[in-house]
Amino acid sequence: MNPSAPRTIAPATGRLGILTPGLGAVATTFIAGVESVRRGYSKPIGSLTQMATIRLGKRTDQRSPLIRDFVPLARLDDLVFGGWDPIPDDALTAARTAGVLNSAELDRIAPFLSGIVPMSAVFDNRYVTRIHGTHVKTGTTKRDLADQLRQDIRDFKARNRLDRVVVVWCGSTEVFIRPGQQHSTIEEFERAMDRNDEAISPAMLYAWAAIMEGVPYANGAPNLAVDTPALQRLALDRAVAISGKDFKTGQTWMKTVIAPGLKARMLGLRGWYSTNILGNRDGEVLDDPASFKTKEESKLSVLRTILQPEVYPDLYEGFSHVVRINYYPPRGDNKEGWDNIDIVGWMNYPMQIKVNFLCRDSILAAPIVLDLALFSDFAQRAGMKGIQEWLSFYYKSPMVVEGLQPEHDLFIQQTKLKNTLRHLMGEEQITHLGLEYYEP
Ligand SMILES: NC(=O)c1ccc[n+]([C@@H]2O[C@H](COP(=O)([O-])OP(=O)(O)OC[C@H]3O[C@@H](n4cnc5c(N)ncnc54)[C@H](O)[C@@H]3O)[C@@H](O)[C@H]2O)c1
Repeated sequence: MNPSAPRTIAPATGRLGILTPGLGAVATTFIAGVESVRRGYSKPIGSLTQMATIRLGKRTDQRSPLIRDFVPLARLDDLVFGGWDPIPDDALTAARTAGVLNSAELDRIAPFLSGIVPMSAVFDNRYVTRIHGTHVKTGTTKRDLADQLRQDIRDFKARNRLDRVVVVWCGSTEVFIRPGQQHSTIEEFERAMDRNDEAISPAMLYAWAAIMEGVPYANGAPNLAVDTPALQRLALDRAVAISGKDFKTGQTWMKTVIAPGLKARMLGLRGWYSTNILGNRDGEVLDDPASFKTKEESKLSVLRTILQPEVYPDLYEGFSHVVRINYYPPRGDNKEGWDNIDIVGWMNYPMQIKVNFLCRDSILAAPIVLDLALFSDFAQRAGMKGIQEWLSFYYKSPMVVEGLQPEHDLFIQQTKLKNTLRHLMGEEQITHLGLEYYEP
């Protein structure tokens, strides 16, 4: 395939601020990890932007630079962290409460973490019922609250002498909200903010504020936020990069690895039963049926789109898919997931696959936050506005433009991500055709 002309991409000079609504387990593990890497205490394991290479040109060219040497990304040393949370704990206290990283690890960077103090949040108990925040903004209308968030972004930028800012939502999962008239156009959305309409949740206000400030927004939770026609239009009008939703970390990541493998071999599926025990605050929030419904919707959509029962009815029509999350405090952040997969082979013979994944949720999510922040900033500097479909790789429910199906297959998502980088940098896209091998 012919290379395209390279895009004009603004350089990654100066400092990049990363703001996270939510300074809980994921956000503090992410921040602590970046600081540990900067000090040489650990390697950025799990991060494509830091560790992955990208093949360029023909195999015989032997060109496989690191992604971070190939595309102009912000350097870790140039990152500055901040956030909002209805719980006023600084990042050190929040990290200790989350219990993901051990004390010795945290002690080494304690002064750095305790210097990161959350700004007061836009928070409403009706949308996250299991958290009782005290560090909360007050305002007459939802627009007033969102305007305060805009001011926070500006102040954070000025205070830290930043060149650019990105926002990555690491807040709790809000209750399930169906997109309605209020989310259909920018005008409807803003009128709904003015009259404090229930359909406008805090997460949507952060998204609106970020876009209005020209700041890229990535949504790590499954709730409705930036994935509405109103905010997508706003992002296009304001030329802002947005993406979402729901970090693809443990069990769903495994699904998007195994399901393409079954389909590639044309093996059938009768059922997939997934259950989890989880004891962190996220687990407690998801113990509320309304928040769980949001998560369930996000987790269930994956298999159908990968397996395409409408194309392969003999293999995949009517398979049953069950997902359970059980809040079990002793397990903390160390989630345990079990999957029982009933598959069907030659002459209809049944087989089973069992997966027992003892994962650490925030350890898997932290490098995703880093990559999304750096790639969103890169996309913004490359003039890529609206939904960044090439970042689907990182999400359980990838956002796509209306009328299109999201791509869930991890390997197609990876190809899309790398080909997007090649395209933007004016390199040939890789087809793995291999014809050059057979030519005389
Ligand atoms: N860890 C994973 O593997 C993973 C994967 C996918 C999605 N997620 C999502 O990421 C989010 C964060 O997960 P976590 O484990 O860090 O949870 P957590 O409970 O430790 O942290 C969430 C924080 O968000 C804060 N918060 C709630 N509403 C807020 C608001 N309106 N504004 C600002 N802050 C707010 C809470 O007070 C809390 O401190 C959750 O929505 C979770 O579902 C996590």
